[in-house]
Amino acid sequence: MSYNLLKGKKGIIFGALNEMSIAWKVAEKCLEEGAEIVLTNTELSIRMGQIKDFAEKNNVPLIPADATSEEDLERLFKEAMELLGGKIDFILHSVAMSLNVRKKRPYDNLDYDFLQKTLDISAISFHKVLQTAKKLDAINEWGSVVALSYVAAQRTMFEYNDMADAKAMLESIARSFGYIYGREKRVRVNTISQSPTITTAGSGIKGFDSLIDFAERMSPLGNASADECANYCITLFSDLTRKVTMQNLFHDGGFSSMGMSYRAMHQYNKSFENGETK
Ligand SMILES: NC(=O)c1ccc[n+]([C@@H]2O[C@H](COP(=O)([O-])OP(=O)(O)OC[C@H]3O[C@@H](n4cnc5c(N)ncnc54)[C@H](O)[C@@H]3O)[C@@H](O)[C@H]2O)c1
Repeated sequence: MSYNLLKGKKGIIFGALNEMSIAWKVAEKCLEEGAEIVLTNTELSIRMGQIKDFAEKNNVPLIPADATSEEDLERLFKEAMELLGGKIDFILHSVAMSLNVRKKRPYDNLDYDFLQKTLDISAISFHKVLQTAKKLDAINEWGSVVALSYVAAQRTMFEYNDMADAKAMLESIARSFGYIYGREKRVRVNTISQSPTITTAGSGIKGFDSLIDFAERMSPLGNASADECANYCITLFSDLTRKVTMQNLFHDGGFSSMGMSYRAMHQYNKSFENGETK
């Protein structure tokens, strides 16, 4: 059902790779809610993923850009404003990658070149997006910028590795830049801390299925799906949340406030039924 919440608004969506991507779901919902959008991803992801099909099917412009390249970002914003016929109202940053995770380097044996890349792609790129947009004065007053985060920024999660450091930095950038952008241009900057979700990036984490099952048992409302995350993004892009800024907003069915749930305890106890001792 559409509420026309984004009617007349223009946005840029980073990070839709395939139909599992959270950004893909957000792009779909933006169109449903009446927005005009531009999609962007790296050349490689455009070649490897399915985003080209989405763009063609929905008649949406697709502009290649590496979110770590200031030059690419400048070109992206200029082209997007030209194609959309004006300034931008909302941006989704849905970008992350860790070579340490991919190459199975544990947190106490990190490759530091990989770590630099993790931070650049998954956190500093958010700063670059914001700084480029501000320099070009590319975002309308009361515009809204959202990046996707994860609770490993606050709590240690087994095997989340250097992505935890990247997410902590990402959330800090939302606060620091949110202050300046809010004060000077009335632009909102927030992060959404999403439940574990089956996507290409998510599946790279070792033991991801167990993590999803554990989070599901711990969360009173269950894990939030990618579709539900997209709904939440829409509210933040809309005019209904104009005074929300510099926040990390948990969208996780209650997981982040839990210590132990009945369902998780029940499963934990079951593991001792085979004669194992506690
Ligand atoms: N899947 C989860 O469990 C989960 C949970 C919480 C937060 N998140 C976050 O959601 C966001 C989206 O991830 P997803 O789960 O939809 O996976 P995904 O793999 O579909 O999306 C990650 C995207 O990042 C893009 N990307 C990588 N390097 C880039 C670069 N240099 N420039 C531009 N784009 C680049 C990829 O091409 C891809 O489209 C990420 O920030 C991720 O950390 C995911």
